[in-house]
Amino acid sequence: MPSLNDIRSTFLNYFGQNDHEIVASSPLVPRNDPTLMFTAAGMVQFKNLFTGVEHRDYKRATTAQKCVRAGGKHNDLDNVGYTARHHTFFEMLGNFSFGDYFKEDAIPFAWNLLTREFGIDKNRLLVTVYHTDDEAVEIWKKAAGLPDDRIIRIATDDNFWSAGPTGPCGPCTEIFYDHGDHIPGGPPGSPDEDGDRFIEIWNLVFMQYEQMEDGSRRDLPNQSIDTGMGLERIGALLQGKHDNYDTDLFRALIEASAHATNTDPDGPGNIHHRVIADHLRATSFLIADGVLPSNEGRGYVLRRIMRRAMRHAHLLGAGDPVMHRLVPALVNQMGQPYPELGLAQSTIQDTLLSEETRFRQTLDRGLRLLDDELSRLPEGGELPGAAAFKLYDTFGFPLDLTQDALREKGRAVDTAGFDVAMQEQKTRARAAWAGSGETADAAIWFDLAERHGATEFLGYDTEQTEGQILAVIAGSDPIKTAKKGEAVQIVTNQTPFYAESGGQVGDTGTLSTATGKARVIDTRRVAGVVIHFSEVTEGEISSGSGAVLTVDHDRRALIRGNHSATHLLNEALRGVLGDHVAQRGSLNAPDRLRFDFSHGKGLTLAEIAEVERQVNGFIRQNAPVTTRIMTPDDARALGAQALFGEKYGDEVRVVSMGRADTGKGSDGQTWSVELCGGTHVAQTGEIGLFVATGDSASSAGVRRIEALTGAAALDYLMGQDRRLADTAIALKSQAADVPDRVRALLEERKALANEVAQLRRDLAMSGGAAQDAPKQVNGVNFVAQVLNGVSGKDLPGLIDAQKARIGSGAVLLIAAGDRVAVAAGVTDDLTGRLSAVDLVRVAVEQMGGRGGGGRPDMAQGGAKDATNADAAISAAETLLKG
Ligand code: SER
Repeated sequence: MPSLNDIRSTFLNYFGQNDHEIVASSPLVPRNDPTLMFTAAGMVQFKNLFTGVEHRDYKRATTAQKCVRAGGKHNDLDNVGYTARHHTFFEMLGNFSFGDYFKEDAIPFAWNLLTREFGIDKNRLLVTVYHTDDEAVEIWKKAAGLPDDRIIRIATDDNFWSAGPTGPCGPCTEIFYDHGDHIPGGPPGSPDEDGDRFIEIWNLVFMQYEQMEDGSRRDLPNQSIDTGMGLERIGALLQGKHDNYDTDLFRALIEASAHATNTDPDGPGNIHHRVIADHLRATSFLIADGVLPSNEGRGYVLRRIMRRAMRHAHLLGAGDPVMHRLVPALVNQMGQPYPELGLAQSTIQDTLLSEETRFRQTLDRGLRLLDDELSRLPEGGELPGAAAFKLYDTFGFPLDLTQDALREKGRAVDTAGFDVAMQEQKTRARAAWAGSGETADAAIWFDLAERHGATEFLGYDTEQTEGQILAVIAGSDPIKTAKKGEAVQIVTNQTPFYAESGGQVGDTGTLSTATGKARVIDTRRVAGVVIHFSEVTEGEISSGSGAVLTVDHDRRALIRGNHSATHLLNEALRGVLGDHVAQRGSLNAPDRLRFDFSHGKGLTLAEIAEVERQVNGFIRQNAPVTTRIMTPDDARALGAQALFGEKYGDEVRVVSMGRADTGKGSDGQTWSVELCGGTHVAQTGEIGLFVATGDSASSAGVRRIEALTGAAALDYLMGQDRRLADTAIALKSQAADVPDRVRALLEERKALANEVAQLRRDLAMSGGAAQDAPKQVNGVNFVAQVLNGVSGKDLPGLIDAQKARIGSGAVLLIAAGDRVAVAAGVTDDLTGRLSAVDLVRVAVEQMGGRGGGGRPDMAQGGAKDATNADAAISAAETLLKG
């Protein structure tokens, strides 16, 4: 009996041998279709090949495509577990032709695979065709020999396939398997077609039109083929089962669930095992593709699926979290064809464990509340909307979880009442926000948030996505269309652009539509709405159109490197300086990073060098950077660094990087663990290089380190090196000897300067009054002289020397240079009647100065100009004369 893995391989190899490129499944979050929540068909990744917008170097392809039908337009969530063939996650096998072959080949390809390769009895197969498609009828007759009564014409949309309201579409033919008349049900098109006897297994779409936004339909440039066959269905058929959940793959997951909950896989809890098996696949694949649980958009769909499974595990009587324990069984089954599962295994397990641990805290109480409410209701009465809302708001019960719980009891929820309660909460939130002092024109963003929800950010995983333009705002007014040259703010339903937050600057890039192009110069977020500050550079941009949003890759890569390096820096600082180091602010720009942290004094060169050594060590380690969502408490328990004073919500994103022997995280080995919403490198090696370029005081008790990474760090270091080499050449020495050479030169220079000063002093004192016998003024020895080339600070020494020479008397010296300095001295025997201070004052006054001070035996002063030096000396003499 072929396994599901065998069947997938047989399918892909069959088309591979028929010249089809075997293309890997695209991610579950479509990058090229803003109208889709999740990839829900194999053709999604090829949409632009059908319309001719995109070309690849193959014209035939085959895939096994991961699909999720939960949330958004395609939603099978409610049926999972209760039917034989519904799934939230499934694999769609398909073959595609992009203007290469058409119906006449697609039908024989399918028929041969089913009847020859898979060996299905042709007498059990029948087909439907679109009622006007005579061509397809003829091909079926010719290629498969099907009689008329097994080719059923269908006039409805069932046989005209389109991915959505717009895009490629065309008539289709569906292949059905007849399980035999022992099972109730009629053929397709008959009143009892919904029975289980005739099961659709394969849909072949003849893509030949494009549905346009204005309702018109145009011919595609090339007639093409898109086929889709659910692996789970064909698997059940080939394994002789009537229920997808009885196939080998599901059986393994159901047994894992039974084992983990210590229950019987086929006992009364069977339905719970089926839900768990299905939801395990959807949640694990979504997490592997970068979706994390949240309260908005895709993350909320994931959360709903997770919590739904968790309630079923609870119903099985599981005392502890279960879901994460089933991941190895899934990886065992599907890790080989989908390597992303194995790569993300620990993230999947951590995310499931944290979500289940958390949800269990409220699940019991919520279920009790639900029972209480029900006991008060009349028989069969609907659960009031307010109660469902309380379960949602206080106990974290998504609406569909409550509905699922009630379904077992044959009850429903008053969903209109639930919507009213939800709306009231939004109104309260808005009123609270309006009172928070935000500017009035921000109301426009709040309106948008209320109408469309928060903008979905896809930029953790991709730098380009399509989005739908929800609003174009000029100033603070919504406009329909912005023309070339206009500066506007553009809001889309989803975006890869990171809005400035947590020190990381907003992304820049381009936004283009069928009619124009805009440059995005900054991105910010208000009330959950991401605002692209843009300038229209070509044509015009209109609200309502689809747009391709492309982040400036090179700039984002630089920002990523700087942001991840900031985390490594934070941890290194704590290691080198101590645990008191806490982040106080940061900047992660493309060209540099800045990190402010609490620390009382400047870093020594040795400390900076050690920090740089550690950061670069973790860069070279090239360890993966991982991201998880958890509660702030769990994050703190892991030792995560949080920004001081920051208010965090119910759940936080935790970014971890680096391996250390003793570290943090669940493995006790992660070096850096931080709460962070920013974008990061995938592996630390991408940072390249780290160098600190400055350490300064930012404010009291807060230091600031500025640093560079990657090419900028290299340029900086090379620049330093070049300057050192230049210096060595100028010094005629080797680079290694430069510090010693410079120190020696400075010593030498100092000695020379001293020598020059001494020579100047000697020269200045070598003639005139300083050498002559002192003049007698009123019986006092008086020496006065103007000295050129002597500085003020030399004067006291010279005064002392003169006082010693004359034994008793007064001395006045005027140093005449750029600045004029005056000093006077009086020997101790005369200080009783003469003061040096007075002498300085009268002298200074003559030279346009003021004041002067000191002691009676030694005083100093300054003046502007020495031209009146002689008058100054005379004034001193006059003073001596009394
Ligand atoms: N796109 C079609 C479907 O999803 C065939 O692949 O059924």
